[in-house]
Amino acid sequence: MLARPALNDTPPAPHPAAPAPAGAIHPGWLRITHWLNALAVVIMTMSGWRIYNASPFFDFTFPNGITLGGWLGGALQWHFAGMWLLFGNGLLYLALNLATGRLWRKFLPVSPRGVVRDLGAALRGRLSHADPRRYNQVQRLAYLFVMADIAVLILSGLVLWKSVQFDLLRELMGGYEAARRVHFFAMALLAGFVAVHLLMVALVPRSLIAMIRGK
Ligand code: HEM
Repeated sequence: MLARPALNDTPPAPHPAAPAPAGAIHPGWLRITHWLNALAVVIMTMSGWRIYNASPFFDFTFPNGITLGGWLGGALQWHFAGMWLLFGNGLLYLALNLATGRLWRKFLPVSPRGVVRDLGAALRGRLSHADPRRYNQVQRLAYLFVMADIAVLILSGLVLWKSVQFDLLRELMGGYEAARRVHFFAMALLAGFVAVHLLMVALVPRSLIAMIRGK
């Protein structure tokens, strides 16, 4: 008899030998917004490191060779240009995901039990990639996390950019200097996500082909 999945949980991954359904895995708009987002994140991170170097609050600075902008003024211009790309593109990604119902289909539900189960299966090399249309629970959590993290980056960035106008937001974050730390730690978490994300992509290279060609 087939086990019925619990209501608030995802069904178990299909058998590894099961064939993947035909058709596009990622729609065109998703691929375009994903790659524009990656570009914006690279621009914002590298120029952000240069801005931080001009007034560091830790004992270290970033090597100039991995920063963008050449000097504080140039880095700020890159950062503001990247900001509009990240914001506009992110808004489009969210709007299309909401309008098509994709956000719920692809990223929900996520349960602690499901994350632990899929993480355990992944670590034992038993996580199936038979259906590339379905994200496992660890991917869902990671992608939802990075969306929330980018929202925190944008909100703390608004405080640093227009501190007087966004005074309520500034106070909620504990003041201007605290907002700088919030912005920095959210950047560090984003960089951590990107590192793990790239490692996962390297382990499953056909997911990269799907994100480029759609199938
Ligand atoms: C050059 C660097 C990058 C590469 C090669 C890459 C590659 C990929 C691939 C192959 C997938 C599909 C994963 C799968 O089907 O299992 C994916 C999805 C995703 N990536 Fe990236 N990525 C990059 C940078 C980024 C960055 C910088 C972010 C965000 C900060 C990001 C956020 C996401 C998200 C949220 C998804 C899920 C998209 C959705 O289905 O709506 N990626 N990426």
